[in-house]
Amino acid sequence: MANPFNNKLSDSPLPEILSPGVPHYLQTTYWWAYIHPRGVRVFERQWLVSLILWGNYKLLCDAVLQDYGTRLVGRTLQIACAYGNLTPRLADSLGEGGTLHVIDILPIQLHNLAHKLPQDTQVRLHCMDSTALKFQDQHFERALLFFLLHEQPLDVRKKTLAEATRVICPGGILTIVDYANPGWLNPLRYIMAPILNLLEPFARDLWKDEITSWLPEHANITLVRKQRFFGGMYQMLTLKIG
Ligand SMILES: C[S@@+](CC[C@H](N)C(=O)[O-])C[C@H]1O[C@@H](n2cnc3c(N)ncnc32)[C@H](O)[C@@H]1O
Repeated sequence: MANPFNNKLSDSPLPEILSPGVPHYLQTTYWWAYIHPRGVRVFERQWLVSLILWGNYKLLCDAVLQDYGTRLVGRTLQIACAYGNLTPRLADSLGEGGTLHVIDILPIQLHNLAHKLPQDTQVRLHCMDSTALKFQDQHFERALLFFLLHEQPLDVRKKTLAEATRVICPGGILTIVDYANPGWLNPLRYIMAPILNLLEPFARDLWKDEITSWLPEHANITLVRKQRFFGGMYQMLTLKIG
């Protein structure tokens, strides 16, 4: 049987296919969305991921691509897979010599992503924990965290941010797209609060605190832009490193 990772995994495919260990929060809170094969089959639908984000998936992906500009040159890192066409769109935006590296802790998610990419893709897949990236310091021109932070407990989230900023070179950009505190006048606030409390227990942290408050202390990071979407329900931060 053909290895779906052919041409898509960097240097040492076999060790990277092995999972570094599934964290407790993924096993207990998100097994149905990301770990169970039936969950992957159900959620890997463009219309469904769009529905979950109240129709804003395309808008948020567009915002990321606009932020990056026309062509992605150098090395780009996507920290964690996403359902839908975000990664294929990032791959389509790669400029001459540009590469996109995607890490995820779940092999099933990387396999799912591999099936969404063409054979000749410049995307490289790595089975890695966002809290312990196996990349050298300052290796990437930019990194993207797309709806990962709200799924992680505070200590894990802080480590993810520390690792993301560690692997970006001076002058590079960290882009974060995630939930935010919707305004009091946003009626969906009152629908989303119980849904998040039930299904995504760490997400409300992003209603209470600023993402920038979890960045590593003493790091030289500048908030270039903060954009809000859909009555404040979602946010996109553009951070410059160094
Ligand atoms: C990016 S998040 C949410 C994506 C969003 N729901 C979507 O599909 O648009 C989901 C991914 O994060 C991955 N993930 C969660 N914790 C991780 C960690 N510590 N390291 C790497 N990947 C992680 C999960 O395996 C899953 O594939």
